[in-house]
Parts: sequence; structure tokens; C-alpha cells
Amino acid sequence: MRSHLKKFIEAMEPNSVAVIPAAHEATRSYDTEYKFRQDSDFWYLTGFPEPDAIAVIDPSSKTPYSLYVRPRDLEMETWFGRRQGVDGAVKNYGADRAFPIERFSGDIGKLLDGHERLYYRFAVDKGLDQTILGYLTEQRVRRIKTAYPPHIIIDPTPIIGDMRLHKTEKEIEAMQRAADIAAEAHVLAMKKVKPGMNESQVEALMESYMRDKGASGVAYNSIIGGGDNATILHYVENNMPLKDGDLILIDAGAEYQGYASDITRTFPINGKYSKAQREVYDIVLDVQEKCIEYTKVGNTVKARQEYSIELLTEGMKQLGLLKGKTKDLIKKKAYMKYYMHGVGHYLGLDVHDAGRYFTDQGAKNSRPFAPGMVLTVEPGLYIPPDDKSAPAKYRGIGIRIEDDVLVTKDGNRNLTSKVPKDPDEIEALMGKRRMAKAA
Ligand code: GLY
Ligand code: MN
Ligand code: MN
Repeated sequence: MRSHLKKFIEAMEPNSVAVIPAAHEATRSYDTEYKFRQDSDFWYLTGFPEPDAIAVIDPSSKTPYSLYVRPRDLEMETWFGRRQGVDGAVKNYGADRAFPIERFSGDIGKLLDGHERLYYRFAVDKGLDQTILGYLTEQRVRRIKTAYPPHIIIDPTPIIGDMRLHKTEKEIEAMQRAADIAAEAHVLAMKKVKPGMNESQVEALMESYMRDKGASGVAYNSIIGGGDNATILHYVENNMPLKDGDLILIDAGAEYQGYASDITRTFPINGKYSKAQREVYDIVLDVQEKCIEYTKVGNTVKARQEYSIELLTEGMKQLGLLKGKTKDLIKKKAYMKYYMHGVGHYLGLDVHDAGRYFTDQGAKNSRPFAPGMVLTVEPGLYIPPDDKSAPAKYRGIGIRIEDDVLVTKDGNRNLTSKVPKDPDEIEALMGKRRMAKAA
């Protein structure tokens, strides 16, 4: 049995059963679907890659791991692709028993009856919610005199989230690969970007590189923003021409074996930062390096956010974007005008990964960093193009610098350090490109 599943079983209460659904295909248009992406929790526990499956985990059973899957079907497989079927689920994916998915609703009583607790997360799979509610309704009608349905329903998310938050060596290896592939794609972009190119060409270039190196694709929709498009946090149209004199912000990561990387770099389209661009860049870079250093055992998620706010507020004062006492500006949240997002998030199977930002002691207790956690560090400054209160030379500049950091016993390791962020180094890399062309 997969080690993640084994660990989850150990965390389950006695006399309980868990129902964990796979993802379904999603319609893109009419009768075509988006490329399938497995549900992260389901993938983490089972490693089973197909849609429409359900894992039932019953630690008290001699066969604790049942998998309901799409059955083999020659015609369906000819049209839509191979299936593992019940035999493959057992033989290739380690299920103790497997059944056709169509049997699940008929089996539900047999699966759940006699257990005190059911681990199930409502409001993710509406169809399965209905099946489970239907079963519970039926049991209630019988007034729990003759039946013994689970009477405690527990959301397994905190347990699985906590497991996913602390990465194993094997997961870290996959994440390092996801990070390397994306880092190389960013370096490629630095070498190729020039005025007159379209954002979409940069996107195509990077994504093609990632696929070529074994990534299943991007970990999220790439953000490729030239000029003031960089001030739109989730700019994903990526269809404008790149202009001489502007910066380009690229936020792009690869997905490898289900694991995400998440990297942002901001660099000059023509290969040389202007004085004003460099002034803003240097501040963001300094904050980013300090926040990376801060991402270590002994500090908490919340303290790191506050630290980034304090540093960036100081930076905003230095640039003349804000005036006043730092303490008052922070209290008034004046920084929100130019820095409106978190300094980072957990990273793993989801780009904004599972795991709570607080401890079991409650929402007021911020989570301390611990070895095995991977977090992004991504401060930014975004000066709206029409912001009359900002010095004119800074208007329309958006800068974010983002790396992926693994917390270790004695500090941290930057998984994405292969892509330069020192502005001199970036200019040198881009200059080399020009010289190579001239030769
Ligand atoms: N790319 C999404 C993020 O940086 O959070
Ligand atoms: Mn991020
Ligand atoms: Mn990002």
C-alpha cells in the first residue's frame, strides 16, 4: 500500500470509514473537455490517475482499501482512451478490491453501516454529496433503530492537508524537478524576449520547453505581462506586443508528477533596466531576499507576512509612494494600494497548496515553519498607471520576484535559485544574447 495512504489510515479514528472521490472531467465546450487533472487529495492518497473513481477506506476491514473505477469497455476505450478497469486498479494500483463505479450507490449502505465515523468532505463533488445525503436520509427515516449509519461526519481535509504540508524526500525530489524545469524556461525567456514580440509567443516558448522536459504542462495559467499589464495580478490574456523600454513580468511554473513550481521574474524587454525601474526592482529584491532568509524554523507564517509589509512600507516611503510614520501607514493598511497580496503560500500538488496557516490550537495561532514545508516568497510592488499620487516615473511599473523555498532543519533551500534575479546578472545574460546575435 502507498505510504501516504498507510499514514492516513493510521490517523483515522477507530471504527471509521473514509470516502475520497477522484475528479471528474470538465466540459470545455459543447462535447469537448479540458485536459483532465486528478484531484490532489485523491492523487496523493491513491496515485490512481483516472476520473470518476471513488476510494473507500475502512481500516477495520481485512481489505481496507476499495477502489470504485470506470469498468473496462472496449467501445468507450476505442473512443476516449484506455482504462485500468477493476483488474488494473488491483494489479497496478494496489487496491485490495475494486468494483465498477456504477455499483457505488447500491453498495453505500454496506460500506458505511456499522461505522461510527465517516470521513467525507462535502461541497467538492455535488453528485457524491447527493448520494451520501440520500443514504443518510434513508437511514434517518428508519430512525436509527435498526440501522447503524455513521453519526459523526468528519472533514478529512485537515488530516490530509497536514500530511501534504510536510513533504517527504520523494516529494521534494519531484518538486525540485518541477522547479528546475520552470527555472530553465525562465532563463530561456530572458534569452529570447525582445521588443516587438508578443506576450503569447513568450508563453508558447516557455510552455513548449516545459513539456519538452517532461512536465505535464503548466502548474497554473502563466502570467506574462508586458508594461503596465504587470500591475494586474492575475493577468492571463497574454496577447499584447512587448514594447521597448517596458518591463515584462513572467509568473510561470511547471507541473511535474502532479507537483507545482511557481516562479516570477520581472526583467527589461530590451535587456536594460531604466533608472526608475531599477529603483523599484532593487527594493522588491531586497525585501524578497530578506523574506527568504526569514522562512525558517522559529518564525511563523503570519510573522513573515507582517515582516514583508513592514519592509515594503519602508520601501514605499523611500520611493516617495507613501509619506508618514511606518507604524501609522501599516495600521491604516496604506501599503495595500501597492502591495495587496500575501508574501507567499504553501506549494505542492496544488499551487496554493493544502495545509492550514494556523495550528491545531485555533485560527489565532499562526503556523510555525517546520522542516519539509515548501513555501513561495513573492513580494511585489504594483504602481497603477493612472496613480496621480505616485511619482510619474514609477507609474505603470509592476514588479514581483518569486522563488520556491524548502524549509530545512537549519535554514532553507531555494529550489528555484537557478534562474537569476540579480539585475546585473539578468542584464548580463540578456546582453550575452545580443552579442551572440551580433557575432
Ligand atoms: N502564480 C500564482 C501565485 O503566484 O500565487
Ligand atoms: Mn505564488
Ligand atoms: Mn506565482
